[in-house]
Amino acid sequence: MPVKKSKVITTAKPHTIKKFELIEMYIKAWAQKLMLNNACNGLIFIDCMCNSGVYKDINGNIVYGTPIRVANALLDVARTYSDKQVFLYFNDLNTARVEELKKHLPPDERNFKIITLNEDATELLDTIGPQLKESSHYHYFLLYDPYNANIEWRVLVPFFRYWGEVMINHALMDPIRAITSAKSATAIEKYEHTYLEEFEKLLPYGSNQSAYEKRVAEIIDHMKGNREYYVASFPFYNRNRSFKQY
Ligand SMILES: C[S@@+](CC[C@H](N)C(=O)[O-])C[C@H]1O[C@@H](n2cnc3c(N)ncnc32)[C@H](O)[C@@H]1O
Repeated sequence: MPVKKSKVITTAKPHTIKKFELIEMYIKAWAQKLMLNNACNGLIFIDCMCNSGVYKDINGNIVYGTPIRVANALLDVARTYSDKQVFLYFNDLNTARVEELKKHLPPDERNFKIITLNEDATELLDTIGPQLKESSHYHYFLLYDPYNANIEWRVLVPFFRYWGEVMINHALMDPIRAITSAKSATAIEKYEHTYLEEFEKLLPYGSNQSAYEKRVAEIIDHMKGNREYYVASFPFYNRNRSFKQY
């Protein structure tokens, strides 16, 4: 069977555009606060599943996604704090999406550098995670934004235990809609892998979103080790509130 080619420019629904706006605003505030801190030598932003950066809204107008918004916001920050460095890593498994993204990114400057990559996110984080060094005094922000419920916690552990932030956009609508009808080994394994629990124990969660939220909070609490770490969650609903993401 021929493999279906993924589109490079897809439609972004209003709740997805809200996500872009919220991340952009958050990153602006995050960067300002850290750059004012003398202990911070610079910032590292990683979107390990970045897509093409270009979408159409439901009326067909072009809308920019997270990587382009964050790149422009952090370029302003790099120009303001010229004694500090800003590095951005944008990665997506889909080559065409990365090629499209490159057309819209600002060029590098002395203290501002964008690295685009075309790898599996797990492999990428497996490479970057062990290289994080407390002594470099860089503050990182990792965005983990898959389409479905999949979370590979193992590669996130170093990021939870270093000076930085991890934002996971967790597609709760995936288990809420599909866990009770999951039959294939792949689907069952996906849920077991994400919630680190046997499928039989997950099945009763059904469409109870707070059960998944509680489980994710328990996993994060376990991962962070002894560090002081703040955990927050925020729901994004679609227009008829029939599903949400975190
Ligand atoms: C929800 S989109 C990311 C949106 C983007 N973070 C933003 O805010 O504009 C998910 C992306 O993950 C990519 N993807 C799926 N599996 C991947 C994997 N294993 N490694 C890297 N990228 C992957 C898809 O090609 C898709 O572009």
